[in-house]
Amino acid sequence: MLDIKVTRNKHPKAKPGKDEPLGFGTLFTDHMFVMDYDEGQGWHDARIVPYENLSLSPACSVLHYGLEVFEGLKAYKAVDGRVLLFRPDRNGKRMFDSCERLCMAPVPVEDFVQAVKALVEIDKDWIPTGEGCSLYIRPFVIAVDPYLGVGKSSHHQFIIILSPSGLYYPEGLKPVGIWIEDEYVRAVRGGIGAAKTGGNYAASILAQDLANKGGYSQVLWLDGVERKYVEEVGAMNIFFKIDGKVVTPMLQGSILPGITRATVIELCKDMGYEVEERKVSAQELADAHEAGKLEEIWGTGTAAIISAVGRLKWGDNVMIINNNEVGPLSQKLYDTITGIQTGKIEDKKGWTLEVC
Ligand code: PLP
Ligand code: COI
Repeated sequence: MLDIKVTRNKHPKAKPGKDEPLGFGTLFTDHMFVMDYDEGQGWHDARIVPYENLSLSPACSVLHYGLEVFEGLKAYKAVDGRVLLFRPDRNGKRMFDSCERLCMAPVPVEDFVQAVKALVEIDKDWIPTGEGCSLYIRPFVIAVDPYLGVGKSSHHQFIIILSPSGLYYPEGLKPVGIWIEDEYVRAVRGGIGAAKTGGNYAASILAQDLANKGGYSQVLWLDGVERKYVEEVGAMNIFFKIDGKVVTPMLQGSILPGITRATVIELCKDMGYEVEERKVSAQELADAHEAGKLEEIWGTGTAAIISAVGRLKWGDNVMIINNNEVGPLSQKLYDTITGIQTGKIEDKKGWTLEVC
């Protein structure tokens, strides 16, 4: 159990108005959580302090070699006024695994959850309540050793910041367009694709920028070896409903093991769908579309929740999915997940954790 020292912000900022549109990740609350790690001493000095800029050595490893990991989860104000987190232990476990992959000291899962709860409780008045709005929580660990050699780091900081946010895509809940990227790749098996670390996102920006310029929201990555099988989207895992079955790429080391992905698989099975986690080729998708069997596509992620895909481009082939409308299963999954997250639907799975 952490002993968290709290220093209140004496100059709290004005909060956004109730009807003010919120974008994603641009506003930050009054406090942040910080804890230090030094080899030999372990994690120490857990504290909540006023939100402020960091002071770092220009030589520190995070700035040169990308030694960092992060997480993303959300806090919701439930209809009965409770503040709820959704499966935070899963984020804690994934951050633990990401730290191990980057040779950084992992934060124990129970300390991660305690720190998130403590910070959210202090800034709970920042939780927005509009449709699709929540308090986005961004925990991250950075290597702060002032050392230019490439090697394992021995000094880290674990920091959590909070951002009242609206929907991730400017399209809102309307279907997005994505293209299958066949030039650039994001990750390969044996690399760091399954870890939530900045390098994977750095690798994705150029392709995403080209997709944006071409009128698409994100790219759908292909596997880095055969360039044949689809993997995931820039900030989401991907699902297809093909001829009545739910299909998603299997986890094999290059894809982020999404928490929304695991949630969707469980919900679909509960609804009676056959769910297949396997390799899915771009050709299979084009063939299914041609045969009228590619019924729905949706992405899953904390920021995006469930995002229907209305257009899928592969080379010259632009496939329109479900008439470019949100499909019935995508809608049902969105309603069920957001219903549980906001306490409108009873949480029979024990997925929510009450903060206060
Ligand atoms: N894949 C990538 C690359 C992501 O950035 C995300 C978002 O976190 C996901 C998948 C979905 O993961 P989760 O559902 O845990 O948010
Ligand atoms: C999330 O869904 O939490 C993400 O991390 C996506 C993105 C903002 C990186």
